[in-house]
Amino acid sequence: MSKAVILGGTGVIGQAAARRLLAAGWQVDVCSRNPGRMPADLAAKGARHRILDRADASSLRSVLGDGADLLVDCLAFSAADARLVIPFLGSVGSTVMISSKAVYVDGAGRHVNSEVRPQFNGPISETNPTLAPGSGDHNTAEGYGPNKVAAEHTFLDSGHPVTVIRGSKVHGQGAAPAREWYFVKRILDGRSAIFLRNGGRSIDHTSAAVNLAVLIETVAGLPGSRVLNGADPDAPTVLEIARTAAGHFRHSWAEVFSEGDSTSDVGRTPWDTASPIVLDMSAAAKLGYIPVGTYAQTVAETLDWLAGAFRKDGAGAQDLPFFEGRFDYAAEDEYLKILTP
Ligand SMILES: NC(=O)c1ccc[n+]([C@@H]2O[C@H](COP(=O)([O-])OP(=O)(O)OC[C@H]3O[C@@H](n4cnc5c(N)ncnc54)[C@H](OP(=O)(O)O)[C@@H]3O)[C@@H](O)[C@H]2O)c1
Repeated sequence: MSKAVILGGTGVIGQAAARRLLAAGWQVDVCSRNPGRMPADLAAKGARHRILDRADASSLRSVLGDGADLLVDCLAFSAADARLVIPFLGSVGSTVMISSKAVYVDGAGRHVNSEVRPQFNGPISETNPTLAPGSGDHNTAEGYGPNKVAAEHTFLDSGHPVTVIRGSKVHGQGAAPAREWYFVKRILDGRSAIFLRNGGRSIDHTSAAVNLAVLIETVAGLPGSRVLNGADPDAPTVLEIARTAAGHFRHSWAEVFSEGDSTSDVGRTPWDTASPIVLDMSAAAKLGYIPVGTYAQTVAETLDWLAGAFRKDGAGAQDLPFFEGRFDYAAEDEYLKILTP
């Protein structure tokens, strides 16, 4: 039986990868700090939870010391993180490092975490220029991308077969934050209007965790050193995302196209962009990757999971700083009053 080790395995990508690999007959070790976050279905299907502190070499040795056919590293945020894992790769068949489209720069050097938003000229392929590798705090807007690039380079220069997968806006069970909560909460709260900026035309490519899981499974059988984009086969507009959520719950609301306003959060969704951000998925397709489905086909499980969690414990896991200011219903009601006095 082939063995996979997933660092950050209880997260949104790790869970989906574990489900996919278990279904294909793999033995799966799900590694994270808190065993209490181990999804019950994974344990029931035979996945093993291993306690891991990703920053600690001896902890890594305890989960990787016996080798593996596949290592999925969802927790490499810097060159230092990559360097901690590389000593174990000699006994790993194929390694996947989860990276991000945040590494890409446009013609003016802007990226998704710049103060001025990037303007890409069409789908972004893996050969698009990236930020220069850097260090410092990866938990900051300016530090995240350069540190991710440094982690990518460190893995790719290691001489081991490492596939770097650059994800975009990930959706799936266990996401924290789950961006779809922006719409699901409004639906469950019975809101009668949804506000969208830019005519709802913003596009920030979505990445279903279940699609990333297939991509991971694909490269598990094709060890190599490469970079691949990881996104859905379609790139829905924010209006399409809103309609998918509303349609799923048979909720009807008025679509109100609000003006962008720096003094107000009305209509500011997690997918807003200055110009479309779309990842070119042709390199993955050439390797034989066949996604599970489109955004609308794959997001249903997330919508149901969010609604179920909400009924169980209210906002629960989505009560996160990420959503601060994003549910200002009073401001929305005020906006409507101005439109329809
Ligand atoms: N989510 C997105 O939209 C998105 C987009 C692009 C790229 N990415 C990339 O995806 C990766 C994150 O994957 P994800 O979104 O699946 O993560 P996630 O949902 O945030 O889950 C993170 C997982 O890692 C565990 N963890 C966190 N810190 C740890 C540590 N120090 N030691 C051991 N375990 C730790 C967490 O459980 P415990 O807290 O219990 O340890 C959890 O299992 C990152 O590399 C990120 O750059 C994500």
